[in-house]
Amino acid sequence: MALLRFIHLGLLFVRYNCFFILGLLNSKWLFLFNILYNKKSQKQAVRFAKFLSAAGPVFIKLAQLMSTRVDLFSEVYLEELKKLRDKVKPIPYKKIVKVIEADFGAKIEEIFLEINKEAIASASVAQVHKAKLLDGSEVIVKVIKPKTTKLFKQDIALLKILFSILQNTSKRGKTSKPLRIINHLEDTMKLELDLRFEAAAMDELKENFNGESYVYIPKVYWNYVSESCLVEEFINGVSLNNIYTLKQGNYSLDKITRNLATIFFLQVLQDGYFHGDMHSGNIFVLPDEVICFVDFGIMGRISPSLRKYLFDVFTAFVNKDYKKAAEIHFKAGWVSSKYNVDDFALACRSIMAKLLDKPQKDIKIGELLRQLFIISGNFEMEIQEDLLLLQKNLMYLENLGRVLSPDENLWMMSKEIIAENINTHQAFKESLKDKYHNFLVDLDSIKNSFINRNQILQENNNILLNNSKWYKRFFVLVVIIIVLLILK
Ligand SMILES: Nc1ncnc2c1ncn2[C@@H]1O[C@H](COP(=O)(O)OP(=O)(O)O)[C@@H](O)[C@H]1O
Ligand SMILES: [Mg+2]
Repeated sequence: MALLRFIHLGLLFVRYNCFFILGLLNSKWLFLFNILYNKKSQKQAVRFAKFLSAAGPVFIKLAQLMSTRVDLFSEVYLEELKKLRDKVKPIPYKKIVKVIEADFGAKIEEIFLEINKEAIASASVAQVHKAKLLDGSEVIVKVIKPKTTKLFKQDIALLKILFSILQNTSKRGKTSKPLRIINHLEDTMKLELDLRFEAAAMDELKENFNGESYVYIPKVYWNYVSESCLVEEFINGVSLNNIYTLKQGNYSLDKITRNLATIFFLQVLQDGYFHGDMHSGNIFVLPDEVICFVDFGIMGRISPSLRKYLFDVFTAFVNKDYKKAAEIHFKAGWVSSKYNVDDFALACRSIMAKLLDKPQKDIKIGELLRQLFIISGNFEMEIQEDLLLLQKNLMYLENLGRVLSPDENLWMMSKEIIAENINTHQAFKESLKDKYHNFLVDLDSIKNSFINRNQILQENNNILLNNSKWYKRFFVLVVIIIVLLILK
């Protein structure tokens, strides 16, 4: 089967004439493709995006992951990768019913009063239908398309082989470590393919926001949650895709931006758990500018220590204390100590100075990201997947901010938000608590290792003791035999 899939992908590769992409490898023995590969060719970029789209869910997600990698692709390619929308033709309603009935062991009429045959949305992994439960509640049902998990396993295995060749044969591969992208993709897609995790993510996020009035998370119907199906409350809001409707309606766009930024920074800095796919299609606005998220398939997590560093870096940046921001980078080990802190501070200033004083409409985020990656490369900073996801969502936020509040500066707005909402003392206390917790965990592990060592010592002693008894007996036996032999 894997062979068939490989052949199918090969045919698609030929069909979209993507040989030029091998030029990316930059290897001497691929010089021919190097000539073909044109960094600025829009046509090639379009063909490459079409190939990825036709190749299915894993490749579409891969494209989305790569769409921020300024270090790998030129602007033309990144633009096409970003455009790649995960929208495909819906699969027939009958197949959706089959999955639902198999997962819940009941007929569709026993679960829903009615269910729309036409899908609200259909992406490569899942399809969403509107429905009504028996008690009349309006819901949506999200269903993982059949055979997706099998295809995922096959494609990941193939990509791992391909990317490890790429990593080991090219100079560029050795530095950008593409195999890590695949491992990260595998980890995130595994969660995305099991809707029980999505339901759990909704629960955790709801708990973290603990009834805050400016954010809403749809209700999960836990009786109807399985690996491939998820039933949740239908949200009747205005999608952030419809900015026009928002502008026409009675909404304050600045308040929407502020609420979005508040949610973003609280998730990241306070809870360390954030919605990892905050594009406009996954956000609804409810009356009073309440923000409602849907689609919790990709979530990001940030460890308490990283959170503390991010908080400190962010505070240093918005206070224009570039030296401090640089020092934190060194302390966190993101930049090797062989570099000079002042040089790095200067590089930080070159990026941030542009960003902090301009209104949102004048900031070119693509340009900024490119600079960021150049600096990361110059200072040999390791690319961290958690931070890439954060960066991607920050980009979504900036894009939304630009459309909704072009004259505001998101960073200055965030500075106020953080001062208002995040109690520094609390954050510090929490970090201390974490340090104390780590200390206790360390103590525990030391204690356990002592206990283990004592146990091992005891066991060894017993063996030794037993062994020595055995040796003594053997020795006595040998002496007796020798004496007997002599006596004889
Ligand atoms: N609870 C909901 N209420 C109303 N519409 C929803 C809800 N959940 C999802 N949708 C709609 O369905 C679309 C696809 O759902 P989503 O969970 O984002 O799936 P995917 O993971 O395939 O992107 C969303 O963009 C949104 O328009
Ligand atoms: Mg979505």
